Amino acid sequence: MTDVDLSIAADADALSLSAAEQFVELARTAVLTRGRFTVALSGGSTPRRLYERLAAPPFQDRVDWTRIEVFWGDERGVPPDHPDSNFHLASAALLDRVRIPRQRIHRMRAELADRDAAARDYQIEIARAFCVDEAGRPPSLDLVLLGMGGDGHTASLFPGAEALREGRRWAVSVEAPQRPPPSRITLTAPILNRAREIRVLVAGADKAATLRAVLQGPHEPERRPIQLVAPENGRMLWLVDAAAASALGPAAAAVAGGAR
Ligand code: 6PG
Repeated sequence: MTDVDLSIAADADALSLSAAEQFVELARTAVLTRGRFTVALSGGSTPRRLYERLAAPPFQDRVDWTRIEVFWGDERGVPPDHPDSNFHLASAALLDRVRIPRQRIHRMRAELADRDAAARDYQIEIARAFCVDEAGRPPSLDLVLLGMGGDGHTASLFPGAEALREGRRWAVSVEAPQRPPPSRITLTAPILNRAREIRVLVAGADKAATLRAVLQGPHEPERRPIQLVAPENGRMLWLVDAAAASALGPAAAAVAGGAR
């Protein structure tokens, strides 16, 4: 546990508050130092509260939304106005409510029949946004928001998937096992691990056993893909609620007490 940066919030609401505070602080620092804030959003139900918080006072006015550049960690193979779309989730909860220039919102076009081409195009789009060579090393996002599934997946990196072994491409198409909608696009470990900051949001008792296995069990990323996430030079902080942390034991609470 000593290597894990863990913050335990009382419940999902407190977790979203803490995540919103950190988002605002990281955005402020990035804009001050680099003139903009590049962030990859996640899907799933846990971040919705964070997005809604950010879109409302007092947080809404604490971020310079015109300086934000938005990407996604993964997208499901549905049109952008579909209720299962991660873009739709973020748009409804946040992006449509704040002033982000449209050209700074980079969605994954996972609804296209040729998802592999869409994944390659996404790599090109990221490279352009960062003014780097699309065939070179991935750029560093200021913040990557991630969630964790009950099976230990993150973004759309699922147990046993070929995408887990991707060493070069920044975005790939995948098929999610037994999870509608199955066809997706996901960022890969090479780009996730170049991030300056990673926040993993995990809430709910149904995640407790998996969280314990991921943080305190053996390193088996083929079984628990989120174990692949380990930033090269950045910081990774787990933001979890008490229910999700309930199987970690007293040592975790002590560690969490020391986390920012
Ligand atoms: C997705 C995700 C996925 C998600 C986890 C946790 O599009 O499904 O990005 O990785 O973050 O499954 O989701 P919950 O927050 O809903 O538990």
